[in-house]
Amino acid sequence: MTRKIAIFDTTLRDGEQSPGASMNTEEKLIIARQLIRMNVDVIEAGFPISSPGDFKSVAEIGRIAGDKCTVCGLTRAVDKDIEVAAEALKTAKRPRIHTGLGVSPSHLRDKLRLTEDQTIERAIHAVKLARNFVDDVEFYAEDAGRADQDFLVRIIEAAVKAGATVVNIPDTTGYNMPWEFGARIRDLRERVDGIEGVTISVHTHNDLGMATALALESVRNGATQIECTINGLGERAGNTSLEEVVMAIRMHEAELDAHTDIVTKELCHASKLVSSITGIMVQPNKAIVGANAFAHSSGIHQDGVLKARDTYEIIDPADVGAAGSQIILSARSGHAALRHRMAELGYTFNDEEFENIYQAFLEVADKKKEVYDEDLESIVHERERVSSAIWTLGAVQVSCGFPLTPTATLTLVDEDGEEHTVAAYGTGPVDAVYKAVDQIVAVENDLSEFSIKSITRGIDALGEVTVRVTAASGEVYIGRGSDNDIIVSSTKAYINALNRLISDQREAASK
Ligand code: KIV
Ligand code: ZN
Repeated sequence: MTRKIAIFDTTLRDGEQSPGASMNTEEKLIIARQLIRMNVDVIEAGFPISSPGDFKSVAEIGRIAGDKCTVCGLTRAVDKDIEVAAEALKTAKRPRIHTGLGVSPSHLRDKLRLTEDQTIERAIHAVKLARNFVDDVEFYAEDAGRADQDFLVRIIEAAVKAGATVVNIPDTTGYNMPWEFGARIRDLRERVDGIEGVTISVHTHNDLGMATALALESVRNGATQIECTINGLGERAGNTSLEEVVMAIRMHEAELDAHTDIVTKELCHASKLVSSITGIMVQPNKAIVGANAFAHSSGIHQDGVLKARDTYEIIDPADVGAAGSQIILSARSGHAALRHRMAELGYTFNDEEFENIYQAFLEVADKKKEVYDEDLESIVHERERVSSAIWTLGAVQVSCGFPLTPTATLTLVDEDGEEHTVAAYGTGPVDAVYKAVDQIVAVENDLSEFSIKSITRGIDALGEVTVRVTAASGEVYIGRGSDNDIIVSSTKAYINALNRLISDQREAASK
């Protein structure tokens, strides 16, 4: 039997640190359920002291995880952080506190202003305090990738002695070459007293496009936990991508002497779910989950694949859930067929929620002959966006064309159900609608990106719009909307982004 590599998913913590990826508790719970279905070993559910929303998410995810996986909360090596994380994790059957501090010369000198000995004292204190609350404590040595190796050995040894059960060695800035980082892990394994009794975890970032390679080289050198995110979301260039490390380990199990317990058939679904909830698109050529990951375009390749799939395909698309759906629903499909397909996609609803979903499905099915899985996912996510909305779309109408001045008439409904109607001109129909939205919602922002794509094939496909707006605070918000009518999708996407912005402003004001 090969070594088991634990998959520690941090989509809901480091992933959420991607600009524009902030999620509310409902959205995090949807992703957490998918992570549990995929069999991840640890979910890092948030940074409890950072906001009431993060505290709530950690507590709620702890509640739903039961004993299926460990639920982890991040802290700095600060007493209050650790106490608050322990409180949030009270609901979890398998709680873990993840605490630590910077260990590189620049972190010690410029950020923490501590000597090496003081840093070690802080680490010992934090780990001991966390152990008073939970049995499972992970110590992170932030920026270990640029640390003095002798100091890294000393601080990891101190953390292990203080009671850490897992030691996390992050390449926080993604600076290392894989072989250098692997050598650091091997050196820790050889020199840290007591290391054989703890799990070595690695947390790598993608600044040089090396995150997956760094994680795999660490596994070759003794790491048995990888910290990663769906779609490689995360600070700056992102974290190690879960789907990449999981499939690389699966394809090279013998030479890495390693396996994971991830249900790989769920990978594409997880990728779409996270993309849809965060509004951050997956690049088409992304390994494993990109739209083109199994597309063969040149004649020579097509010929080869038709003769034998493995001429140009190393992974069977079905193994990662990328095979096209055989089930296509239509307006004639009844409640049972829709409920069955939704359950296969991982969605369960109570009767009232399902009736709303069914009505939305009929509206789409009336306009499109065939309803694909992607359409169903879009229907579900559109409803989620509306159910947590502050402003919702009541009606929108535009007149445009040559030589007309584009004009929009718009009705938005506020949280109390009151309708607000205005009209506006613009340089184009979308501009006119957005000016009308601005008149009603009146929140300062800068629209920096607008993109549109069709969700499935055909002229009658749902159009999905993604927008990016920057608030006066500099915070970026992404919004998404889908509909058969692209003006309606555009309106919904902008309202979705503004709803996120307003909800954050309210949370900040309530602190
Ligand atoms: O990149 C990093 O070092 C982190 C730590 C907080 C684990 O995210
Ligand atoms: Zn990180």
